[in-house]
Amino acid sequence: MDVIEQLAELRRAVAAAPRPLVLVPTMGALHAGHLALLARAREIAGPAGTVAATIFVNPTQFDRPQDLDGYPRSLDRDLQACRSAGANLVFTPSSDSMYPPGHSTLVRETSLSTRLCGATRPGHFDGVCTIVLKLFNLITPSHAIFGEKDFQQLAIIRRLVRDLDLKVEIVAHPTVREPDGLALSSRNVRLSPQQRADAPRIRQALLAAAKLAADGETDPAPILATARVHLEASPLLKIDYLELVDSESLQPIDTLDRPATLATAVFYHDTRLIDHVSLKR
Ligand code: PAF
Repeated sequence: MDVIEQLAELRRAVAAAPRPLVLVPTMGALHAGHLALLARAREIAGPAGTVAATIFVNPTQFDRPQDLDGYPRSLDRDLQACRSAGANLVFTPSSDSMYPPGHSTLVRETSLSTRLCGATRPGHFDGVCTIVLKLFNLITPSHAIFGEKDFQQLAIIRRLVRDLDLKVEIVAHPTVREPDGLALSSRNVRLSPQQRADAPRIRQALLAAAKLAADGETDPAPILATARVHLEASPLLKIDYLELVDSESLQPIDTLDRPATLATAVFYHDTRLIDHVSLKR
């Protein structure tokens, strides 16, 4: 497995890499969810193709300095995990090489990015779009794999690829969960034992609300109220947002007459966790 920090070396490795070349972009602190993405990448690449991962804690997508500073970092362990998962190439650039002094270009998606996480984390998706486009340009993958847990990010990256005519196929991978339902996230390690024990309520709240919809409720108000009551029963968490949106446009809906997604972000003190559920009637 090649571990590459420099752009020139990356370009040489990419030029020589057998295709298909399947990319798994990450910010490190790898967990079983990332390993599932790497396994899917290998399935797509086949035994002779290339699986590339990137490990870069992208500063431009953090809206709070304490979140960036506290973001878990475990490079040695991550490289070992990539090696065990059969990655061929891991790119671990420095911040300066990705954002040289004086950099002044940002990529902004202007519709989907204004909702949900984009509304409460201003600039977050500009940072995501910018780094993802840079990684696509540098690595020229045939496919790139993203987790469905970040469903808004996935929708925005699909939009980026469509709108900018990028030649990469975006592959979505289902959310990987702990046995108690908590969605795997690099941020979970920051939860105290008490917060960790409480956190499965996020999934439970969404599922209780989804059941209402599955039983025929079409009014968003009781669906949202059900989830809110479950979440607010905990003194440990604070709701950042809880919204019922059209799954395509991410705009709020006033009746459940099309594919919809119930999405939430909550804070356990400084640790922000997200989750969502698709509502089926
Ligand atoms: O999902 C993530 O880990 C990040 O947002 C990504 C896509 C690697 C961009 O930094």
